[in-house]
Amino acid sequence: MSPALDRRDLLKLLAAAPVAAQFAAAPPVAAAAGHGILKPLPSDVFTIRGTNAETNVAALRDTGLHTPEDHFFVRNHTSTPVLDESEWKLTVWGSGLRGRPVEFSYGQLRSLPAVTRTAVVECAGNGRNFYATQQGQPVAGTPWTLGAIGAASWRGVRLRDVLRRAGIDPSAVHVMPRGLDDPYVSGGVDYGRVRRPLPAAKALDDVLLAYEMNGEPLPYDHGFPVRVVVPGWIGIASIKWLGDIQVSATPLSSPWTTEFYRLFGDAYPAGGSDPIGPQTVKSALELPLGARLEAGTVHRLTGRAWSAKAPVSHVEISTDGGAHWRRARLRDTPCRDGWVRWSADWRPRAAGPAEVLSRTTDRAGNTQPERSVHNTQGYLFDAVVRHPVTVT
Ligand code: MTE
Repeated sequence: MSPALDRRDLLKLLAAAPVAAQFAAAPPVAAAAGHGILKPLPSDVFTIRGTNAETNVAALRDTGLHTPEDHFFVRNHTSTPVLDESEWKLTVWGSGLRGRPVEFSYGQLRSLPAVTRTAVVECAGNGRNFYATQQGQPVAGTPWTLGAIGAASWRGVRLRDVLRRAGIDPSAVHVMPRGLDDPYVSGGVDYGRVRRPLPAAKALDDVLLAYEMNGEPLPYDHGFPVRVVVPGWIGIASIKWLGDIQVSATPLSSPWTTEFYRLFGDAYPAGGSDPIGPQTVKSALELPLGARLEAGTVHRLTGRAWSAKAPVSHVEISTDGGAHWRRARLRDTPCRDGWVRWSADWRPRAAGPAEVLSRTTDRAGNTQPERSVHNTQGYLFDAVVRHPVTVT
């Protein structure tokens, strides 16, 4: 549970409200903070961006492979709702079921066979800021640097087990989870509750309905009581505060596949690319942008590397702006859907501005390019980041 607030107090507060607790909005304390996030957001760990909180990557330096809740980024379209697991239920419905809608209580879900797996959740816009700052290409959206990612150990049930129990028909093509947070309204348009269809093949493969994160019940901000975790896919697929799942025998769409989370721009067809699914390959240095490093001293550079497509093969670094590269040391055994920590020592000689670059290559041969292909909403930035430092 969130260390910031006592769950019982919040529920007492909400009991006074005329809405069912299951559909409760964020309590006044979050609204008062302006961003709608319930957990503390100390400025050395997070940068607040509207209704979202980016993890400062430098603050990950002392964390392990799993990102603790108090360092995990938050991406909210509206604000974190406080739901009551005893009132919560999941409804599975739609033309792709053999019969009527099926409901699962929290207890019923928890009594199904449980699985635990590590996976990163990474926003499709992670790294977006570098389209503008590094490539001179303005893009729309939250200007994340590289901290819209976290890795956790998720425990829950397989979506496939739930769909099978609900009677999914072989004709089902799309499965659309929907959140219980407030409808998303932007620019005067009400887009409805956050929802996005998944191909049935992915839903029946490795998707989890998670109720625990790093061995604790899901924190409010990360989807309590139950969220979807879609390994390898952009973060929007991992719907938080899950309320219902539509299973359909015909293709589904939502604003999150038609207007958002597809690629528009010169490199793409006029109507945009297909809706995006899998994430990409990246690396990040656990150092503030513009950090000051002393000349003549050995500095241990550390960072993270990840790829949604295959386990990481190796990470290279360059401390002279990309002229020369050498391999960093991997501190973890690479695995699918997680990330690895890496380190490399560097003794800068001359004072002045410098750029440190890191580049991930995965076992399928995918490597970070020098430039990302531009799209107007700044998704899937995968280029090598030229990390500015000042040697003093
Ligand atoms: N689910 C709901 N219901 N509402 C949301 O706003 N944001 C999505 C996804 N699931 C969102 C959601 C996006 S864009 C991302 S990147 C991830 O949640 C972020 O998960 P986190 O906040 O736990 O880090």
